[in-house]
Amino acid sequence: APITAPDITSICKDASAGISNQAEAVRTRKCCPPALGKTIKDFVFPTDKTVRMRWPAHKGTKEQVDKYRAAIQAMRALPDDHPHSFASQAKIHCAYCNGGYTQVDSGTGFPNIDIQIHNSWLFFPFHRWYLYFYERILGKLINDPTFALPFWKWDEPAGMPIPDMFVPETVDGKPNPLYDVYRDADHINERIVDLDYDGKDKNVSDQTQKLCNLSTVYRDLVRNGGDTISFFGGKYVAGDSPVDNSDPSVGSVESGSHTAVHRWVGDKNQPNNEDMGNFYSAGYDPVFYIHHTNVDRMWKLWKDLGIAGHVEPTDSDWLNASYVFYDENEELVRVYNKDCVSLDKLKFNYIENSKEVFPWRKSRP
Ligand code: C2O
Repeated sequence: APITAPDITSICKDASAGISNQAEAVRTRKCCPPALGKTIKDFVFPTDKTVRMRWPAHKGTKEQVDKYRAAIQAMRALPDDHPHSFASQAKIHCAYCNGGYTQVDSGTGFPNIDIQIHNSWLFFPFHRWYLYFYERILGKLINDPTFALPFWKWDEPAGMPIPDMFVPETVDGKPNPLYDVYRDADHINERIVDLDYDGKDKNVSDQTQKLCNLSTVYRDLVRNGGDTISFFGGKYVAGDSPVDNSDPSVGSVESGSHTAVHRWVGDKNQPNNEDMGNFYSAGYDPVFYIHHTNVDRMWKLWKDLGIAGHVEPTDSDWLNASYVFYDENEELVRVYNKDCVSLDKLKFNYIENSKEVFPWRKSRP
């Protein structure tokens, strides 16, 4: 049977998994969303007239950047117990990843087994849904039904530095809502991300790092991601215990460039590599969402390569796995993997460079 998230407002525990220094945790370990006691509705596809076009963060126009800052600022201004608040959005990640929920509603019920949406085939669909609602909430906060998220385009050399708008602590004398104090200062200053970061700095030239990164993208999308399970990750169904990142069945992008960027951005001097270096705290860094928007785009690019074998899972345990989120109207909605496969239906897409969509295509390592 598929993994089925419980009513998130009534069944939730404090996070613990993966936090080794619980006493020193710099973010709250209470990952439960506000409990409004609402009933869970079924998801309906959006009826928007326009498609939200997600844009490369390093190429944002002043208007795009200002709007994005204003939306994140509005989110930060909400009280923490609002389901759309910055903290509530961050806690979603913690709850689904650090043991907030059990599989009580999955199959015949497994109240002693936690839900962990990482390290398995739930990774891509869960994060796609997470960002879907996050984007619509931000748009609603600034009254812009066309609002679209930026993505950190680390698969193209010009996009490999951490995007400018995330770096300064203040903008025009006011706190920058895209800044986060818990980042690796050395990495942020040196700027070019290492998509194969394993905890040790390589100390190579920027040019070499860029070429390495292109090879890493090729590795994750082509060489190691040749079929459904190697790209999406191993089967994970009701009754299965969570697996960790060392498991060989973790999908190619998830275990590769995705995790490397988390570790590279997180502060190695914090007890749990906060914020980006731990599931429980990652959602508190605005960089998390631009990183995952690009990870989501990798799913689309992988499919667009048109290589035989590059198809989504068709197993009913994948199609019918489900999660519960607050939507932009503060309603609780249950969503299924099968409904997130078509970007057309979800009314968002990605702006691509028409000349060179796959700059790493020839970067066979
Ligand atoms: Cu949910 Cu990048 O982890």
